[in-house]
Order: sequence, then structure tokens, then C-alpha cells
Amino acid sequence: KPDNLADDFSQALDDIRSKLPESLHSPKVALVCGSGLQGLAEQLVDPVLVPYADIAGFGESTVHGHKSALAFGFLGKTRVPVVCQLGRFHAYEGHDMQSVVYPIRIMKLLGASVAIITNAAGGLNPDLVEVGTVVALVDHVSLPSLTSWNPLIGRNRDALGPRFPPLSDAYDFDLRLEAFRALHDLDLPPDSLKEGVYAWVAGPSYETRAEQRFLKAAGADCVGMSTVPEVIAARHAGLRVLVLSLVTNMVVATPYRYAGTVAAAEREGKGEIVDAADHIAQAQEEVANHQEVLDVSARRADDIRALVERIVERTFA
Ligand code: 6GU
Repeated sequence: KPDNLADDFSQALDDIRSKLPESLHSPKVALVCGSGLQGLAEQLVDPVLVPYADIAGFGESTVHGHKSALAFGFLGKTRVPVVCQLGRFHAYEGHDMQSVVYPIRIMKLLGASVAIITNAAGGLNPDLVEVGTVVALVDHVSLPSLTSWNPLIGRNRDALGPRFPPLSDAYDFDLRLEAFRALHDLDLPPDSLKEGVYAWVAGPSYETRAEQRFLKAAGADCVGMSTVPEVIAARHAGLRVLVLSLVTNMVVATPYRYAGTVAAAEREGKGEIVDAADHIAQAQEEVANHQEVLDVSARRADDIRALVERIVERTFA
């Protein structure tokens, strides 16, 4: 039986378009905004918000402080029609993979040919990134999708894309090139944008120290809890993909083995020389925390916004 997209998607597309002026019926770019980076939608000209609750097939978004809507509007001097997903579905919230990638598929079917996805990530490779660096992804390492959690598992949607899509070209070279040109256009520091590899972990717990070293050894430069399912679905459906990961904290930490040393020093009466408190304080500073992620996002949000806008202008000049 042929795959009929209308069975699953046409109601959603009708729901959306019935709320939009004709000029926004076919946005060219699908934007997905990460932690602390939702402000992108505020620079849309003539925005129209369509709440998820008004669109057939959307899951309930449980994310706090998110609008849970698609924002349509025009971006940049060239007024490119775009759609911005406000409120993302993460696997760790308990959403199934189909729900996580549903918005990407909807945005593709509305007419988008390019997806620009932003996220916050932990930095694994101090030779490449520091806190505040934006990483244009060139590749990913994804234990969940390699082993079990792939959004394309199940009956293939032949009308969307192939059963076995390649991912060796997942991260579009030309879009990355535009990102570096845009950085220069905007006079932003040349060092603030790098090309690197992202590791997806399911979350919501952060990585252990051993896991951080493991992911780094596997070739990842940064690590986060989103994006890869969306990239897989986007590539399956033929969207060109750009991902900008903001490094909000550095995470490669040394092993934490001091208890034996401290106890031995105590026995030898040198407890004051080997100070456990110092080690504990150092270790504490290396613990990831969500507030730090939000703080750094807030600090870099304007630059990332400007970058995305300029990339869109350049891509649809
Ligand atoms: Cl350190 N880990 C993960 N998995 N996601 C993050 C992060 C770290 N920092 C921001 N997002």
C-alpha cells in the first residue's frame, strides 16, 4: 500500500495554514532554538504564532517557560519567510521519537528546504572550544541512535524519504561556509566559531567523568541532549542542515581518585599537606549545572541570533 502522507499530515498542514497569511504558507527555513536561545523568534517581522494545541498530531510539550508554538514570520533584510519551533520535544521528557521529530517533518512539508538548529552543549575538546564558542557541526556520534533510539525505526515513510538514508553528508558544507562568512560580515571574533563533532546522549542526567572521556575519545568535541533525532529526520526528508552548538560549559574532567591518598596521608600524620577540601572544591567546580548553561546562552544569544539572521540572508540572497 503506497505511503500516503495526507493520512497523517494534511490535517496539521491545514490547521497551520488556516491561521497564516498566504505569504507565510511556505516558509523556506525551519529554525529550531535551543536552551536560552528562543529569543530568535523575537526578531521575526510580522510574526504569527500558531500554538501546538491548535495543530493536529502535536504532543504535549512539558518544557518550562516555552511558548509551545510555531512562530512564522520574515527574517532579515531580504524578508525570508521562516518558521521557528518554539518549544522542543526532548526524548528525556518521555516523548517517543516520532513526536520529537514531528515538528521537523511538518516544517519540511510546509515547504522548508533548510533547517537551522541551535543548542547548548558541553565542551569536550579544550584544544578546539572554550565556554562561549559556537560550534558548526560537521558530524555526530550518537550512541542512542546507533544502538536503539533512532527516530526512523518503524515503517518507513517512503513519501518523506528512503528506508536507509546516508548520514555521511548530514551537515551541509555550503551552509557552514555561509556561517563563517556571516561571522566575518558581523565583525565577530574569528575564534568564536569552530567546526566540530557533537555527541548526543539521551539525558537528562549529565555525563559522568568517565563518560566524558569516553565520548571525547570517540571523536566528539561537544556533548548535548538534543538535535541528533531532528537532524536524522531532517536528512531523511531531504532538508539541508546547519547546526550551531553553543558551548556553555567545559566538561572533560580528570578522574577523581583522592580518597586513598588522603587516608594514607592521615595515617602518616601528613593530613594537613594533602588537603581533601581542595580536591573536593575543585571537583565541585567541574560539576555541570543547568543555570550555567542558561547564563552563557543569555550572554551569547544576541550574537547567535545575528549570525542566524545573516546566514539566512546570505543563503536566500
Ligand atoms: Cl555538560 N552535557 C550534556 N549532555 N548536555 C549539555 C551539557 C553537558 N551542557 C549543556 N548541555
